[in-house]
Amino acid sequence: MSDSLTCPLCGQKERFTLVNHLRTAHNTEPAAFAAKFPEQALHVAEFNAFMQEHDVQRSDGVLHYQLDIAGIRMTARYGVRHSLVPKPDSTFVWTEPCKDVAEAIEHNERVFIHGPSGTGKSSLVRQIGALTQRPVRRVSLNGETSVADFVGHWTVNEKKETVFVKGILPQALEEGHILQLDEVDAMQPEVGFILQQVLEPNGHLLLTDTGEDIAPHEAFRLVATANTLGFGSDSGLYASGTHVLNFSWLDRWDVVVHMDFLPAKQEIELLRARHASLNKDLLKRIVKAAGDLRKAHAEEQLTTVVSTRRLLALCARLERGNDFTRALTVCVLNKVPAEDVKVIQETFDHHLGPIAQQKPAA
Ligand SMILES: Nc1ncnc2c1ncn2[C@@H]1O[C@H](COP(=O)(O)OP(=O)(O)O)[C@@H](O)[C@H]1O
Ligand SMILES: [Mg+2]
Repeated sequence: MSDSLTCPLCGQKERFTLVNHLRTAHNTEPAAFAAKFPEQALHVAEFNAFMQEHDVQRSDGVLHYQLDIAGIRMTARYGVRHSLVPKPDSTFVWTEPCKDVAEAIEHNERVFIHGPSGTGKSSLVRQIGALTQRPVRRVSLNGETSVADFVGHWTVNEKKETVFVKGILPQALEEGHILQLDEVDAMQPEVGFILQQVLEPNGHLLLTDTGEDIAPHEAFRLVATANTLGFGSDSGLYASGTHVLNFSWLDRWDVVVHMDFLPAKQEIELLRARHASLNKDLLKRIVKAAGDLRKAHAEEQLTTVVSTRRLLALCARLERGNDFTRALTVCVLNKVPAEDVKVIQETFDHHLGPIAQQKPAA
């Protein structure tokens, strides 16, 4: 079967579809063309099947199609050029909790993701944004983000006029970003109070400074990430700077997802994908040591925990030819309290033994 079509208006041959050609060469929309040439196919059969299978639609001048992400059917956009659309990362590992977050974003549920630091919470939101081509605006709500940054503030412009500059929240609401609020367990209570308005389904934001009522764009999404569930830190690891969140505030989030460390097999896959030159056996042993240390942390024998982020940093140094002890010192040991150093060092020695003495990036 031919993969090209001939334009009845000018005789030009086009591959797969006439739509682009009609628009650019004849300034004609497909509907007007179909009314004039009811017998002429607009697309070849496979292209039609693809369009139907992926439910390709054009709205607001952008193509939308259905995409399978980790088993969840999501609506993606095509050809969006926006500086806030993240870059896709083919090494990202999709786990079960990722599906719950994807579903929440697709169906406009407010989602709260909690779990230890470095377990991929922020990366997940960015990857969903990358694959569906949605702009992602990330803001850390640690104590330093003020209400003025978040909601907006008055300033004097070049013409010496006093104007109100909208902050991150109204911008994200109006422009339809995924707003990712990091460290919500450390936010100022005033910020939590403001957020309450937009946690409601279709919740508007009232800018008290100007009286403006801001309705959310249909693409606006809200995601929070935190290390604790807001009941204070169970482990004590995140105690400083985290507040106990108000229960009624927490109750307004539609979905709460817990993300934990990757299962060993997937963590090894990730380290291999990012640091392909490292020996697989070495990576297996590193992940085994990290697993034991995480267990020790859960059993309260260790105050800190070795995250995937730490392992990636360690592997990056090993890949550059650093010896193991030096890399472990700067990537892990120098970050932990003195009482943890010995246990961590011994655990890595136990699992890596003589391997750690060799130059690993062979
Ligand atoms: N599932 C995963 N797939 C790929 N990379 C991951 C995954 N989980 C964590 N990482 C990597 O670990 C590092 C920390 O992840 P990040 O998303 O910042 O964690 P968090 O937001 O939970 O603190 C990043 O380099 C990220 O790419
Ligand atoms: Mg994060």
